Amino acid sequence: MKEYDCWFQKQTQAPCLSVPSLKRFFSAGAGMVYDHAIAEYRFLLKKCWDIPTEAVPDLRSAGTVLGLVADLNPLLPGKETLPAKIPAEGFYIRIGHEQSIIIAADEAGLLYGVYRFLALLMQGALKPGDEIQEAPTARLRMLNHWDNLDGSIERGYAGRSLFYQDNHLQYDKERMVAYARLAASVGINRISINNVNVRSAAKLLITEAYLPAVAELAAVFRPFGIRLLPALNFAAPKSIGGLSTADPLDPAVAAWWKEQISLVYRYIPDLAGFIVKADSEGESGPFQYGRTHAEGANMLAAALKPHGGELIWRCFVYNCQQDWRDHSMDRARAAYDNFIALDGQFADNVLLQIKYGPLDFQVLEPVMPLFGALKNTRYVMELQITQEYTGHQIDLCFLPWLWERIMAFDTAYGPQSRIRDLAGKSLEGFAAVANTGRDTNWTGHTLAQANLYGFGRMAWNPALESEAIAREWSALTFGPGHTAETIAGILLASYPAYENYNAPFGICFMVTPGIHYGPNIEGYEFSKWGTYHRADRKAIGVDRTSQGTGYTGLYAPENARRFEDPAQCPEKLLLFFHRLNYDYRMKNGETLLQNIYDTHFVGYDQVAVMVETWKSLENDLDGEVYDSVLSRFERQLENAREWRDQINTYFYRKTGIADARGRRIYD
Ligand code: GCU
Repeated sequence: MKEYDCWFQKQTQAPCLSVPSLKRFFSAGAGMVYDHAIAEYRFLLKKCWDIPTEAVPDLRSAGTVLGLVADLNPLLPGKETLPAKIPAEGFYIRIGHEQSIIIAADEAGLLYGVYRFLALLMQGALKPGDEIQEAPTARLRMLNHWDNLDGSIERGYAGRSLFYQDNHLQYDKERMVAYARLAASVGINRISINNVNVRSAAKLLITEAYLPAVAELAAVFRPFGIRLLPALNFAAPKSIGGLSTADPLDPAVAAWWKEQISLVYRYIPDLAGFIVKADSEGESGPFQYGRTHAEGANMLAAALKPHGGELIWRCFVYNCQQDWRDHSMDRARAAYDNFIALDGQFADNVLLQIKYGPLDFQVLEPVMPLFGALKNTRYVMELQITQEYTGHQIDLCFLPWLWERIMAFDTAYGPQSRIRDLAGKSLEGFAAVANTGRDTNWTGHTLAQANLYGFGRMAWNPALESEAIAREWSALTFGPGHTAETIAGILLASYPAYENYNAPFGICFMVTPGIHYGPNIEGYEFSKWGTYHRADRKAIGVDRTSQGTGYTGLYAPENARRFEDPAQCPEKLLLFFHRLNYDYRMKNGETLLQNIYDTHFVGYDQVAVMVETWKSLENDLDGEVYDSVLSRFERQLENAREWRDQINTYFYRKTGIADARGRRIYD
């Protein structure tokens, strides 16, 4: 197995459709992405099955017909049976006995159709009579890279940056093409290429010092239907423009941006736009000048407008200089409190990018109350593929399991108001912080490739189930069969296990400060970051009900009521919303404390089972993959033990109450 290839492995079995039919193809259409879609069809058949392809001039003698509706329609016999309308970026595939067709209304749709056709072929899942019609639910499907120009990656766990080295854009072109292929094959259509914390040389990416190189990079992604979306530094008029201010309402500032952005568009005319982190964790922003975030964003949006660009403005805005003694402040409220009053004030080419939860990619968090509440604002949801709080790609943690639950969350703003229902409407897309780097297998942990794959698939179709994604990815990567099924099972067990041995019941942030790996129960307790659990000898948690910080009241009434009442609140999130005594009785009749002990013993045992299951595959897997994953699993087991014992011991020491089942807790 070549890890570099991810889900485009060399196939050991013959394709499930006849080779001559795959070989002889006819195509009609025009355009750069169209040409590339055809090239990808040919390239991947050769690469994965060693099938050379041949373009035939006559549609009748072709085994596979590919093209755009406008060009193929006049030529196709039996076209009345084609779907009347194929939506933007969508495709229609029909498998026949003699001939199969892949048809799309636009070039990107054809590319996605080719990838889906080949993915199904690899899974042995195509047969005559099959019809597949798909289109993405949401328009924006974005990867955010937090890469710095020195080659480091903020929260990167898979080696150095794919894009940069020593403050230059420097990359292996072939590998970059392979990356663009992986991304496009799961429907990604935007990529931001630098850290949202725009520091040092990255500030110059929008200047002529870097633009020729950025334009070259854009050209690598362009045929794959992927447009660049760099991160901007709000203070750039000062830091690189030589102005004395970055005040968004200062005409000189607006004029500077207008000119700078026009310059960028001269190099990259199809740039998607920019992403901005402002007034957050030390980044500059409109608050510094007494302006609102709408005023800040709209000024930049106006400069993008003539070029058709969009501004992605992040809502991760909170006070990171809190006093732990002050119980009146609640960081969970921050994004809502900062943005809800601005609903309807943003320009029409601004989209807010909202983290899925109110804190920061924790293992267990509720969905952010802004979703559904914003009525006159365009927005996207931000997820994190890189495993900052979920094990640094040393521990296995299959994130689509979490994402499926986020997509199913009902915001309770009227009918059809689950996150997955909002997708494609007010929720215009999904962004996720990428987990890739220069490691041979792209993601450090080979099985973490499934998270990259899964993000693309779910951003394309938020109704997909994580089980289907796990099985699909495993079959594509390891070949369909028992091994893939077993690996899918391991993936699906991993998130519940991680939840069990991590911080209990939605309490959050019991991690080592700064690096965010491994347990440190009071690591953030007396810090400025606003992430407290306030455990004492009788109780734990922050009261976020109407009696406390009022956070529950930020949700639609039905959800507010549910979260307000500990008896109705989802138990997994109980300590996110409530401060409870350790003897609080949970639904299973046991105390909260006993449930904390139990989940931690169970979590460790679940990891032990994952490791044993992996070992059972030793003879079925490539030796290098087997060994590298095993060594990570061994570390994960050690981590799970550490989490279990530190958490259980902490609560045992606080309460003096032993485990009712007599298991060993340290003192
Ligand atoms: C987290 C993370 C930072 C990151 C920030 C963000 O706080 O630890 O590294 O910069 O999120 O999303 O902007």
